[in-house]
Amino acid sequence: MDIIVKKDYEQMSKCAAEYIATLINKKPNCVIGFATGRTPIGTYRELIRMHNEGLDFSNVIAFNLDEYYGLGMDLSKPYALDQSYQRFMYEELFKYINIKDENIHIPDGLTSNPDEFCMAYEETIKEVGGIDLQILGIGGDGHWAFNEPGASLDSRTRVEKLSKETLDDNYEAFYKKAGFSRDEMPHYAITMGIGTILDSRSVLMLANGSKKAKIVADALEGPVTNQVTASAIQLHKGKATVILDEDAASMLGRYKQSTSVS
Ligand code: GLP
Repeated sequence: MDIIVKKDYEQMSKCAAEYIATLINKKPNCVIGFATGRTPIGTYRELIRMHNEGLDFSNVIAFNLDEYYGLGMDLSKPYALDQSYQRFMYEELFKYINIKDENIHIPDGLTSNPDEFCMAYEETIKEVGGIDLQILGIGGDGHWAFNEPGASLDSRTRVEKLSKETLDDNYEAFYKKAGFSRDEMPHYAITMGIGTILDSRSVLMLANGSKKAKIVADALEGPVTNQVTASAIQLHKGKATVILDEDAASMLGRYKQSTSVS
């Protein structure tokens, strides 16, 4: 596992975008797994800037990690009132780049048959040859995507009940600002499994801020456990890269021992 520590959020985002752009330039039809949350927004802004300077997404295939169960994009509503991850991706990245609609795959939160949908999602990933690079954040409870504490480390795409900590975090970060009550927030999500994520040929995990420092240290240096599903990064058999800002890295044993920050 490569751990890169950058001075701040801006530098972390630039480094992550360069990493992603390098793959796209090397393999224009690469398959990228995208993530939502506050963490990758700076990376997406940087990718949009790079696109404006020529970075070509026309052959890139996208698979998103997760979607709230019960939500789907509704462009007739203002962005704040449409908290679907489909809308997030559209507003934060996809509408600004030349990715083709038919190459975008995001779990369908409105599906009437979630089990069938989840199996088909896994099949579609296989049909395109698997994910080359999966971008990941980390939830406050250590989750990857919506694989909450207790999820099996070989889980596949499925419906997952959100933990209280995740509901609290995501309510504060997104729903509250839009004036939603806590009860209006979906309590379930469709999520890629940890097994699905580990099948990606490479993973790129991002985290910033001191609030994430303890859980980042648990995931990267603690025991591999389904209580911190991001600790599965230690099991990844391909190329695993982590880009952190100094605050998120501050509780890592290996970071404390070195001062190499760029
Ligand atoms: C959500 C997403 C995760 C993301 C997490 C962290 O729960 N399902 O994929 O990593 O939020 O979000 P943030 O980056 O806002 O801290």
